[in-house]
Amino acid sequence: MPEGQSAGSTAAPAAPAAETDLKPLTAAEVSALCSNLAKGCEKQYRAELAEAFMGLAAWFGGRERTVTDASFEQLLERVNADLDSGFPAVNAVSRQEGDRGALRALAWSEKVTRILKSLLTRYAQEGEAMLADTQVYVCTICGFVYVGNDLPEVCPVCKVPNFKFEKIGG
Ligand SMILES: [Fe+2]
Repeated sequence: MPEGQSAGSTAAPAAPAAETDLKPLTAAEVSALCSNLAKGCEKQYRAELAEAFMGLAAWFGGRERTVTDASFEQLLERVNADLDSGFPAVNAVSRQEGDRGALRALAWSEKVTRILKSLLTRYAQEGEAMLADTQVYVCTICGFVYVGNDLPEVCPVCKVPNFKFEKIGG
């Protein structure tokens, strides 16, 4: 018997409230998580680990089912759900835990999500005309989406130089 355990301690301790809210991740979510871990490893010059995480990201990404019933309304619903309940809940837990790193990442993420909502709202009004004669870029660090031809010098959300932006589509 491991040190510190008594014969009567067979029942598992009750999970904290936050753990009862956990749900399994989808393959796409695990893929995104692995991709983010790979970027973190790159920043720390751990190329071998970064490559391993990218391999995992690709593997999980290939296992996600193809969404056939996607719609603009569903996307907007998910964005609104994140803003209305997701961010407040996760921010509360991060504050409670005193996790400054998580709070900083959440601040970026919430800003980016609000910008996405603004772009979606604009797209709903303007349609494809919004994307005519313009480019779309994504900040590979924070996810900020820029629609336009003249990139800002630095990302307005996370402040990385614009060479970290990736052009999307044609
Ligand atoms: Fe950024």
